[in-house]
Amino acid sequence: MSKIVVLISGGGSNLQVLIDAVESGEISAEIVSVISNRANAYGLNRAANAGIQTHVHRRKTYPNRVAYDVALADLIAQYEPDLIVLAGWMHILSAEFIGRFPQKIINLHPALPNQFAGIHAIERAFAAYEAGEIAHSGCMVHDVIPEVDAGEPLVTARVDFRPNDTLESFAARMHRTEHRIILLAVQIALES
Ligand code: GAR
Repeated sequence: MSKIVVLISGGGSNLQVLIDAVESGEISAEIVSVISNRANAYGLNRAANAGIQTHVHRRKTYPNRVAYDVALADLIAQYEPDLIVLAGWMHILSAEFIGRFPQKIINLHPALPNQFAGIHAIERAFAAYEAGEIAHSGCMVHDVIPEVDAGEPLVTARVDFRPNDTLESFAARMHRTEHRIILLAVQIALES
């Protein structure tokens, strides 16, 4: 059975998709641990409810980013994961971390390749749409490399804007699409 470690920072709706897919057998793997960099991330409750071991790994308890990343890598390595999934993980991982798990880390990002890297991608895409700069956006799951929200995409999906869209209605459509592609990407990554 393949082992997955999921890293989160927030609500964990994508984590929930993975938990449900493991329970239903759509993903034949075990989520062995969920790690958050924020103590109040609701996703930690989702993991605990599913009986998954959780950890809070807070940046401010380490003197610098590399020390934080090395300790995080040590923690994850104990689980001997086949796959590490960044599902709403809002900390930029250093090359030192990434080098510890070659070919094993994938990231969900709410924008298409080479667009809106970094935080507030949904808000920035919606503002660009309102300014007439883009006609659609999308989301992707990609291999993690040191460059933020870049790396070879495993799955991409287009998310259209619709007449009378608000930021909220667009964001809701984006999240529904993300829930679809995170499942697909994990299935693909486990098979490769
Ligand atoms: C998702 O929209 C994900 O794409 C985004 O955080 C959200 C997490 O939602 N990640 C990034 O922006 C990474 N650059 P969730 O906690 O409900 O799964």
